[in-house]
Amino acid sequence: MRIGVLTGGGDVPGLNAAIRAVARRSFSLGWDVVGVKNGWAGVLDASCVELTPAKVSGILHVGGTMLGSTRTNPSKIENGVERALDGIETMGLDALVAIGGDDTLSVALKLHDEGARIVGVPKTMDNDVAETDYCIGFDTATTTVTDALDKLHTTASAHHRVIVVEVMGRDAGWVAVVGGLAGGADYILTPEETRSISDVCKHLERRRAMGKSFSIIVVAEGAKVEEVVDDDSALTEGGLDEFGHVRLDLRGIGATIATRIEAQTGFETRSVNLGHVQRGGSPTVFDRVLATRLGVFAVDLIRDGKFGMMAAQHGDRIVPVPLRDAIAYNRTAPAELLELAKLFY
Ligand code: F6P
Repeated sequence: MRIGVLTGGGDVPGLNAAIRAVARRSFSLGWDVVGVKNGWAGVLDASCVELTPAKVSGILHVGGTMLGSTRTNPSKIENGVERALDGIETMGLDALVAIGGDDTLSVALKLHDEGARIVGVPKTMDNDVAETDYCIGFDTATTTVTDALDKLHTTASAHHRVIVVEVMGRDAGWVAVVGGLAGGADYILTPEETRSISDVCKHLERRRAMGKSFSIIVVAEGAKVEEVVDDDSALTEGGLDEFGHVRLDLRGIGATIATRIEAQTGFETRSVNLGHVQRGGSPTVFDRVLATRLGVFAVDLIRDGKFGMMAAQHGDRIVPVPLRDAIAYNRTAPAELLELAKLFY
C-alpha cells in the first residue's frame, strides 16, 4: 500500500504532528508514504516527496507544515478535477489523507465522489469544521490570544486605556470567544452576533463609572458590527482566493472600532491585530495529541476501507464522520459559550 498526505489552506501548529502520525502509523502497517507538496497544487502537478522515518523525525513540536500549503482549488481550474485524479494516479497513490479546513475537505469530497480514495483530518484555527469538537490549530491559536491578552492587560491598566484586539475568525467566533473568555476580555465581538459600537461605548462608560480605568475588547476579523459598512472594493483589493474568500485583514475592523470608541467616549484607545502570530509557534499539548490521534485514525480509516470519511473528535473519543457531513455547514460558537463570556464583562 502506498498512501499520500497533504496539508491545505492556512497553516497551523500541529500540522507536522499530524503528518508524522500519518507516516508513523503507515510505517507500522508496512506501507509507503508520500508527502504531497503544497496542498491540492501538489496533486495537480504530482509534486511529492517520499517520507521516511528520518524525514518525519524531529517535527512533532515544529509549527507550519513541512509539506507547504496553498489555497489551490482544483474545481476552479480548467480540467482541475481530472488533473487531480491523474495526479493521484501519477504519484501511484492507493489512497490520500487530506488535512485541512472546510475548503480543503470540500475538494477531498469532490475527488472522493469522482472515485478517488480519500479520507480527511480537520485542521483550522477557526475551529469551524462541522461534526468534530476540535480542529487542529485552534487550541494553540487561543493559547496565543490568551497570552497576548495577559500582556495587553498590563499596558491597558498602566495607561488607563481601552485596547481593541483583533483576532482571526471569518465566519465563526471561536477564537474570539474562547481566547477572550480565557484572557478576561471585557467585551467580545463575533460573527455570530451583531453588536453596535454604541453598546460597546455604553459598556465602557459603565466600567469607568465602576472605577475600572481600562478595558480590553476582543473582536473577530469577521465580526458583525451595526455601524460598520464594509467597503467592498477595499476588501476585494487583495483579490479573492480560489474559494472566493476576501482578505479580512484588509477590513481592519479592530482599528475602525478603536477610532470610533475614542471619538465617542474620549477614552484613550489603541488597537492591536494579532494576525498570523495566532498561526505560529509550537503546537500546544492539546494540539499535538489531537493531531497525533487524528492522523493515526485517518490511516486506520484507509486500512478499513472507509473512504470519504473524516477522523473527528467527539468528547474524548476519535470517531469517523462522513466528509459530506463535515463540510455541510459552518460550525459556529454556541450561544451558551457567548452568554458565558458576557457574565464576566
Ligand atoms: O484559515 C483560516 C484563517 O485563519 C482565517 O481566519 C483568516 O481569515 C485566514 O485564514 C487568513 O488567511 P491568509 O493566511 O491567507 O491571510
